Amino acid sequence: MKLPKTITILLLGGGGREHAIARSLAASPRTARLYIAPGNAGTSSCGTNVDMEAGNFGAIKQFVLNHGVGLVVVGPEEPLTKGIVDFFESDPELKFVPVAGPSEAGARLEGSKDFAKAFMSRHHIPTAAYRTFTKSEIAEGAAFLETLKPPYVLKADGLAAGKGVVICDTLEEAHTELTEMLSGKFGAAGSRVVIEEYLHGIECSVFVATDGEHYKILPVAKDYKRIGDGDTGPNTGGMGAVSPVPFANDEFMSKVEERIVKPTVEGLAADRIAYKGFIFIGLMNVGGEPFVIEYNVRMGDPESEVVFPRITSDVAALFEGIVCGTLDAYELTVSPLWAVTVMCVSGGYPGDYRKGFPIAGLESVATPAPKSASKGAPKSGDTVVFHAGTVATATANDVKTTAGSRDILTAGGRVLSVTSLGTTMEKARAASYATIDDLSFEGMTFRLDIGKDLEES
Ligand code: AMP
Ligand code: GLY
Repeated sequence: MKLPKTITILLLGGGGREHAIARSLAASPRTARLYIAPGNAGTSSCGTNVDMEAGNFGAIKQFVLNHGVGLVVVGPEEPLTKGIVDFFESDPELKFVPVAGPSEAGARLEGSKDFAKAFMSRHHIPTAAYRTFTKSEIAEGAAFLETLKPPYVLKADGLAAGKGVVICDTLEEAHTELTEMLSGKFGAAGSRVVIEEYLHGIECSVFVATDGEHYKILPVAKDYKRIGDGDTGPNTGGMGAVSPVPFANDEFMSKVEERIVKPTVEGLAADRIAYKGFIFIGLMNVGGEPFVIEYNVRMGDPESEVVFPRITSDVAALFEGIVCGTLDAYELTVSPLWAVTVMCVSGGYPGDYRKGFPIAGLESVATPAPKSASKGAPKSGDTVVFHAGTVATATANDVKTTAGSRDILTAGGRVLSVTSLGTTMEKARAASYATIDDLSFEGMTFRLDIGKDLEES
């Protein structure tokens, strides 16, 4: 199966990840029209924003049918864990419209930690030793904690807005946390709790595109989750990312492919789980050996903001390979340049923050137009400001307004992701920080040390 020569694409989501995907899709000659729902003030420079939530399947159906959409690309996990792929496949009017993403069963790799751990143990994929406990098993859980060494890792089974993993330094804290989680601290997401062995090492994110049979490993990245320099303070959605990752060298990546990527793709097929999308493998490098920390069923954010700018092959054709089962014929090419992205966030994030502040300086950043990406490889020094939580004062669908004349306001915790490319990580970092010097909004905060730990390693 192949898609038509040019395709009308609907991309669901509205963060920095979706701006990065939208920019790469807009650069493809295969993309006839690109709609982004709901998108943000940045995605409107790549296509047409549609005021529609990514979880509103009824509205999505009407839009797809009314606008001749021939491919749906899903950015965030929620529509996937809610079963958007199954919704399309079981609807007589939608079943011929391919959706890039796993089935609801496949999305359980992210939606249930217990499911993911059982999958890994069934398919002999290296991960931390674990056990799962329910409310009636608090005593057993407490006894299991006694067998482990500190620190203790407790994970709410379900999606808990990125807050469901708690690491406790002492046994006493771990006992309290276990009781609180199983008593409803995270609602239904915590009705089961996975307790696992703590892995000591350094993390990276491996992204795999799969059509259910074949796979391509995309550029590897590392993200920075804590709010503060030196990995201090609370966890966030991600404060920056780099790609490639020096320690993820050929030797390490061949272990990842043999021990993790192949058994994951083969395991999904063996379990008869339909999966045509991205598998995001959160890995811990423990003394040179890879262990899976978690699976996600989508691309990462902000990792996408460093992964997609390095992909020089056609990204619309990548999605075609995913949905048509022809990924083996897709030739993935990747720029050898380093990419660094630094996230500018609202003051107070990840706690309470205010929105609606004007963003100054965007017009002064010479972001290469999306279409230029098809005309040649990215160059050292290129900078792209990806929008995350932003909104334009004029409606984003108003084609008469231009980016320069609109007022763009902050509309979320993570606001702008500033990505630069460079022949070295230092050059890419320096270019991103130089661009950030020209950008401002009230309360703007960012980390100063994205990629620093890797330069020194
Ligand atoms: P998650 O929300 O699943 O991404 O987990 C949040 C973070 O907790 C991960 O990025 C790791 O830094 C940490 N973490 C999770 N599981 C473990 C583990 N078994 N050992 C050490 N750190 C872990
Ligand atoms: N950057 C981590 C995530 O997307 O979940």
